[in-house]
Amino acid sequence: MAYQNLISEIKENILYVTINREKALNALNKDTLAELADVIEFAKKTEQVRGVILTGAGEKAFVAGADIKEFSDYNGKQGEDLAKRGQDQVFNAIENSSKPFIAAINGFALGGGLELAMACHMRIASDNAKLGLPEVTLGLIPGYGGTQRLTQLVGKGKAIEMITTANMITASEAEKIGLVNGVVPQADLISKAEEIMNVIKQRAPLAISAAIKSVVAAVKNSDGYTVEIEEFGKCFETADFKEGVTAFIEKRKANFAGK
Ligand code: HXC
Repeated sequence: MAYQNLISEIKENILYVTINREKALNALNKDTLAELADVIEFAKKTEQVRGVILTGAGEKAFVAGADIKEFSDYNGKQGEDLAKRGQDQVFNAIENSSKPFIAAINGFALGGGLELAMACHMRIASDNAKLGLPEVTLGLIPGYGGTQRLTQLVGKGKAIEMITTANMITASEAEKIGLVNGVVPQADLISKAEEIMNVIKQRAPLAISAAIKSVVAAVKNSDGYTVEIEEFGKCFETADFKEGVTAFIEKRKANFAGK
């Protein structure tokens, strides 16, 4: 796939997506969002892809937010459209993906950049990363799901503090409050994400997708417990379930086909 603002490649069933606007600290302009929407769809429909690792180009920023220069003259309706389109096509599309997305946060993750990382299923940060939702410094609030996902991840009190102060926090503070799953030196960032993805790759694909769907349902205003029961039941209909149980009983490694 050839993109203007993304680098994407598949290696050993992992799709690597790098947001590549280093001079603008990988800020999300319209074209980048459209390309992200496209690559998310590609990941969804490409059987070979078992998971996605998303990062930013360079050593300074994951993503420094939505491209402020693009929306500087927007009115309310245009602002609402921007948020709605982005949420539908990118942020919710990632969260609702049946394949795991890991954000490898290699530097600043601010505003829409932190929102993008929070839409992913897991986050690993490099030790130089800084995270925050500085929208109130622009007279805005987060619009790509940040008020919801930050609250879900760190709780109401800390979310309100971060959003209303606009203060950035360090990677280690982010780990302490559960905003990131782990912190590693920048040189080890991608390999740490790969380590997690390579474990997931050994598990039953349909069970992974059922698990993600169920966990995501838990933090939506839907009855996540019922979704979990339904998804749990569906797992029993899969060949992978039979293979997994058979392998256990036969004391061998399971060989899952994703069926
Ligand atoms: C557009 C951006 C940008 C952004 C950085 N740049 N962030 N361009 N949109 N969000 C550009 C700068 O204009 C500059 O380009 C270049 O990247 C380098 O940035 P500097 O500011 O010179 O770097 P530095 O001094 O090191 O400061 C780094 C920084 C700062 C602290 C990350 O750039 C910053 O505060 N950026 C804005 C962060 C922010 O407010 N994000 C939230 C955006 S609102 P030029 O060409 O000028 O040299 C948002 C809303 C989401 O995300 C919801 C939408 C629905």
